[in-house]
Amino acid sequence: MLEAKNIMVFFENALALNDFSMEIKRGEIVGVIGSNSAGKTTLMNTASGLIIDMKIKEQRRGGGRITVYGEMIFNGEDIINTQPYDRVKQGIVLCRERHPIFPESDVEENLKIAGYLRKRSEARETTDHVFSLFPPLVNLKKRKAGFLSGGEQQMLAIGMTLIAQPRLLLLDEPLLGLSPYLQLRLVEAIEKLRDESGITILICEQFARPILPMIDRGYVIENGMLTLSGTGSELMGNPEIKAAYFGF
Ligand SMILES: Nc1ncnc2c1ncn2[C@@H]1O[C@H](COP(=O)(O)OP(=O)(O)OP(=O)(O)O)[C@@H](O)[C@H]1O
Ligand SMILES: [Mg+2]
Repeated sequence: MLEAKNIMVFFENALALNDFSMEIKRGEIVGVIGSNSAGKTTLMNTASGLIIDMKIKEQRRGGGRITVYGEMIFNGEDIINTQPYDRVKQGIVLCRERHPIFPESDVEENLKIAGYLRKRSEARETTDHVFSLFPPLVNLKKRKAGFLSGGEQQMLAIGMTLIAQPRLLLLDEPLLGLSPYLQLRLVEAIEKLRDESGITILICEQFARPILPMIDRGYVIENGMLTLSGTGSELMGNPEIKAAYFGF
């Protein structure tokens, strides 16, 4: 479905992604695991097209030059230069790291705002789906989003991206800041999303432990470079992963 081929991203002279290649097949959950500043968000921005936006803004400000090389093949077509909003139309939707919500609006209003470009009936259908996927949100429909807990806000943020009806959902560190209990609940919801809706999912994380049992395949990224790849269970049994991410 999506293939990143030899992606290089420079911020001025600093290399954030170095000859990075990976593949996501339809219906898979694929994980990219890496520590702070490994290049995860840069990869997500390159897949979603946000990097193009960043590039244009930097140019306008006369700031640091962003250079992108390589190919991003989506359903057989190279989309590396396609604008982010056109990629959303093609079904690639990103839930950003600490994805913004509207804190002064309640949960239902947030979902409505996310659906303002959709037909009302379609938006209502996907809104119902969001509540079935994230049951804790049902009783919070009228609560201001700013008063939700971190985990509830993260569910809402993912819910807002689902309103855009992704075919490929990109999740940038959805587990960030959540307790181990909430991390597991969210992992369950992500699996349910794939199983029930057939949405293909790419998830970037620094926490390997909660996501390895869920992913079909995973890639480990360090300093922008691919260091290891394999199925979820292969990675779980790998001594380097155990030492680096499990602490034993
Ligand atoms: N706009 C930017 N300008 C300059 N350097 C940047 C920019 N964005 C990212 N970088 C650099 O690129 C590298 C990769 O950053 P990136 O945000 O992709 O890492 P990450 O894996 O998402 O980290 P984290 O876990 O902290 O979110 C880092 O060294 C970072 O400082
Ligand atoms: Mg990041």
